[in-house]
Amino acid sequence: MHFNLKGLLSRNGFFLDANRPQIYINLYTAFKKAILNRSLETGSKLPPSRVLANDLGISRSTVLKAIDLLLVENYIVSKKGSGYYVRPPQDKKLKLSFPTIEKKGGYPKLSKKGRAFSDNAKYMVEDYNTGVAFRPGLPPLDIFPVQIWKKLIDEYWKHITPSELSYCNTIGLQCLRENLSQYLKVYRDIHCHPDQIIVTTGSLHSLYLVASVLLEQNDEVIMENPTYPMAHHLFKSLGATIRAAQVDTEGLNWSTISCQHPKFIYTTPSCQYPLGMKMSMKRRRALLQWAAQKETFVIEDDYNHEFSNWEKPLGSLFGMDSQQRVIYLGTFNKLIHPSLRLGYIIVPDHLMDAVSGLYKQSSRFASRENQKAMSIFIERDYLNKHLRKVIDTAKERKEIFVHHFNTRLGDSFSLDHNSLGLHLIAHNKLNITDTCVEQALLQHNIRGHALSKYYIRPNNANGMVMGFCSVNPKQIKETIQKMGQVIEQLIN
Ligand SMILES: Cc1ncc(COP(=O)(O)O)c(C=O)c1O
Repeated sequence: MHFNLKGLLSRNGFFLDANRPQIYINLYTAFKKAILNRSLETGSKLPPSRVLANDLGISRSTVLKAIDLLLVENYIVSKKGSGYYVRPPQDKKLKLSFPTIEKKGGYPKLSKKGRAFSDNAKYMVEDYNTGVAFRPGLPPLDIFPVQIWKKLIDEYWKHITPSELSYCNTIGLQCLRENLSQYLKVYRDIHCHPDQIIVTTGSLHSLYLVASVLLEQNDEVIMENPTYPMAHHLFKSLGATIRAAQVDTEGLNWSTISCQHPKFIYTTPSCQYPLGMKMSMKRRRALLQWAAQKETFVIEDDYNHEFSNWEKPLGSLFGMDSQQRVIYLGTFNKLIHPSLRLGYIIVPDHLMDAVSGLYKQSSRFASRENQKAMSIFIERDYLNKHLRKVIDTAKERKEIFVHHFNTRLGDSFSLDHNSLGLHLIAHNKLNITDTCVEQALLQHNIRGHALSKYYIRPNNANGMVMGFCSVNPKQIKETIQKMGQVIEQLIN
């Protein structure tokens, strides 16, 4: 990478003056200043002398003279066959100067929403840069067919046209929406027109779009308790008043709360998040009737349907709705891998303009490259094959996880392995809080989320939500052994 350094050097005193013959001295001084004040970082590579001369409008021999001086004084070093690099300052006493930030006077205040987003972000676990075992919500990452995906991306770039490098339709590529509507017909018995589908970067993005166009300050939102914490914090940031309804073996039970005018009900009927049960048919019918009575929307987060409906398929709430009350959210980030960033919403007609309008005026559209690759991934049956492999792998890893976990940690936790999802809940038998366990594990590079954080209000929950299938059996076993040691240290 060769940056044009003209601006940087002129900020550090380089200028061309016909009356000054020794331009190389001026250039050397500007370089020296830039290195000392760290505008040019240690290790940065200088552009080749020919490029530099061209960018600065001076002769190459002038540049080479300045470079010689910088070399002699050890500001730069020459690496054979590679070029010139900035050296760390030799004089240890030399103080590197950074611009100081002066805070003069006041600044415009954050909006109420801005403050809420900033405050609520604190509740989210930042554990992105370490290992993945046993982070909840991850599929078997090691079996993703990298070579196939690479082939699809190569094909995309081989046939790319200039106009495809321009902006893309906000609601998503037509081919992907068509393939998605076929996929949803087969897997979810959902019959929808491709034009009802908006391709997003995932379910959280979909939730943001939908909730933003619906919520006014203090609007009531019904959520399952426990629930998906990111959704909870998002709705709160957008000003909602949360009504936390209990869940029982049949799923969301709204009769446990009083709520006059809910703006919407957020639910995970295929696989309650995080407890993992499926909403019964009776409850689904009743929920749709109640939503109609209350004239409200239901957001169906079907984040996990591929797994939770594999053995005992049950259709979606969306498929049972005849009133356009259900807003359906799906995602490929959970089935394929989360850094894919592709999801979708099936939007009722009367919300289409608002949701797509907000999308257009904010993040515009999801990566065209990934949309195209995903479309072909579905069309050529790779998705179907991958799904089968994921299901088999998840089943196998669940057994392995349960076996090793119970053997090594059975005295400390009791594992509830009835969940239909890709995580299990380990209830804590120890006299230690789950947040404490979470922190201790994190320090040893082991994931596991505290169950109490999934609840809307302070509660007595004490358990760990553990994803069991993102890593291979050997790593599962090793990580459980390590977890056993962490827990022993914690209790001793
Ligand atoms: C219940 C639930 N819904 C939605 C999402 C968000 O998925 P995405 O990565 O597509 O934004 C998650 C992610 O963990 C989830 O657990």
